[in-house]
Amino acid sequence: MRITDTSDLWWKNAVLYCLDVETFLDSDADGQGDFQGLSQRVDYLADLGVTCLWLMPFYPSPGVDDGYDISDFYAVDPDLGTFGDFVEFIRMARDRGMRVIIDLVVNHTSDQHPWFQSARASRDSPYRDWYVWADEPPADGPQGVTFPDKEVSLWQYDEVAGQYYLHRFYRSQPDLNVANPKVRDEIAKIILFWAALGVSGFRVDAVPFLIETLPSDKSQIPDPHEFLRHLRSLLNRRTGEAILLGEVNLTHEDQRKFFASPEGGGQELTMQFDFIGMQALYLAMARQDASPLIRAIADRPPISVENQWATFVRNHDELTLDKLTLGEREEVFRAFGPKPEMQLYGRGLRRRIPTMLKGDMQRIRMVYSLLLSLPGTPVLFYGEEIGMGENLAEDGRLAVRTPMQWTPEPGGGFTTADPAAIVRPFPKGAWSPKRVNVADQRDDPDSLYSFVRQLIRFYRECPELGWGTFSALESPDAAVFAHRSDWEDRSVIALHNLSPRAVTVTLTLDGVTKRTKLHDVLRPGITPVDAKGAFTIELDGYGYRWLRHQPDGTLPI
Ligand code: BGC
Repeated sequence: MRITDTSDLWWKNAVLYCLDVETFLDSDADGQGDFQGLSQRVDYLADLGVTCLWLMPFYPSPGVDDGYDISDFYAVDPDLGTFGDFVEFIRMARDRGMRVIIDLVVNHTSDQHPWFQSARASRDSPYRDWYVWADEPPADGPQGVTFPDKEVSLWQYDEVAGQYYLHRFYRSQPDLNVANPKVRDEIAKIILFWAALGVSGFRVDAVPFLIETLPSDKSQIPDPHEFLRHLRSLLNRRTGEAILLGEVNLTHEDQRKFFASPEGGGQELTMQFDFIGMQALYLAMARQDASPLIRAIADRPPISVENQWATFVRNHDELTLDKLTLGEREEVFRAFGPKPEMQLYGRGLRRRIPTMLKGDMQRIRMVYSLLLSLPGTPVLFYGEEIGMGENLAEDGRLAVRTPMQWTPEPGGGFTTADPAAIVRPFPKGAWSPKRVNVADQRDDPDSLYSFVRQLIRFYRECPELGWGTFSALESPDAAVFAHRSDWEDRSVIALHNLSPRAVTVTLTLDGVTKRTKLHDVLRPGITPVDAKGAFTIELDGYGYRWLRHQPDGTLPI
């Protein structure tokens, strides 16, 4: 393995940035972001150092689920732009060295989609079997409502159709029937259509639900994972570089099946979000005890070299804590979102990090240092780089989807439209654009923006992090998360103090047989290591250090 290999499997040390075109930049003063606006900010994104943009859905949609209810998979929402605008944006991003992946939401359609309208109208419709119908909700069917604030059942009786249909999400999002080969063909066609327009892959929405079939469908599709393998190989043939980054919020053990076939043969998803690691990170922060995070990362199943974990500390949904026990969840709620309006569905938080951490800049920086040093590929959610807060006055998950804050003006530099026309109101007070914005931070070397930008640069310059093998270092202080990532004959060692107390810890590096030195990555500094591998580090409260270990006489990569 050589440094030049890092450009082959580009996703192994990419930095992803998720944004919604609708809330990024408004170029035509209608209060909504659009592709022309986004194109104006491509240089900003390239300068930040992110290497791949993930666009949330931008397709025509009635907007019941903020665009995750799609009524045409082969179009751009006219409010956001045209195909021309889309293709120009992709070309611009590529020109600046960034790839673009897009949300692929094919577990369901909007109920306004012409397929569903036709399906419900008649049992003879060619689209009837594109959805999942039943005369009575089957007792052995799927269980568990995703949005318990609005739904009580996964089945909705449709008067026009005279039957119930399955919907994993809102009732206005009927599930597609992947047991039907025509549906599978259509999904492949959608993927290849967008790949032909230049995208470098997809963030695949709700993968376990997408490939879920009813027990009665087993004869039609004995192994639904075969479908994922089929999509993967189609993409490989058409574009080679395209990734499938799956949303698979299951246990680590269950996630394993979504990377590769049990025999280890055909690949499925290229990457998966590490929801377990993310939840453990919050528990570890709440307890100021690194052990939950150490356990979670160590517990990741082994993956092949082409596969990768996507790490994150915030995304566009509620920050789900669903895999914690009730008691653990309560601990996180108490620490980071004690009020009912800060919580959602009883399982998650609808806050951004700076508000959860009460604006404690040292602690906020520690979290991003931790994120960027974890084994995997980091995914940022727009606005994290400047420490944007949320607007709890907004409904549900929309609290964290407020417009990007570019300047201190009332329109936040996002739009010149009348404030009443803005797609979603900004947070007020300490988190308003006046107080938190790109313009104030971009040229300030001490800002969060500058810090995150630097972390991104260092992450990119340390392929050990994206490519390496994780192991935890035993720390005498439970609050210190100490780990190393080994790649080839090099390692990056990262230390994070989850507590507000300053600590001094002596740690041991296995495999060191003679005196050597560790070089600080984030700042100048050298730490000696004795012949037994022991070294001592001081960390401020919520302090962090990245240290590099490399063979004597070699230069850093
Ligand atoms: C997305 C959500 C969306 C849901 C339905 C997900 O898991 O992340 O934002 O509401 O799928 O498409």
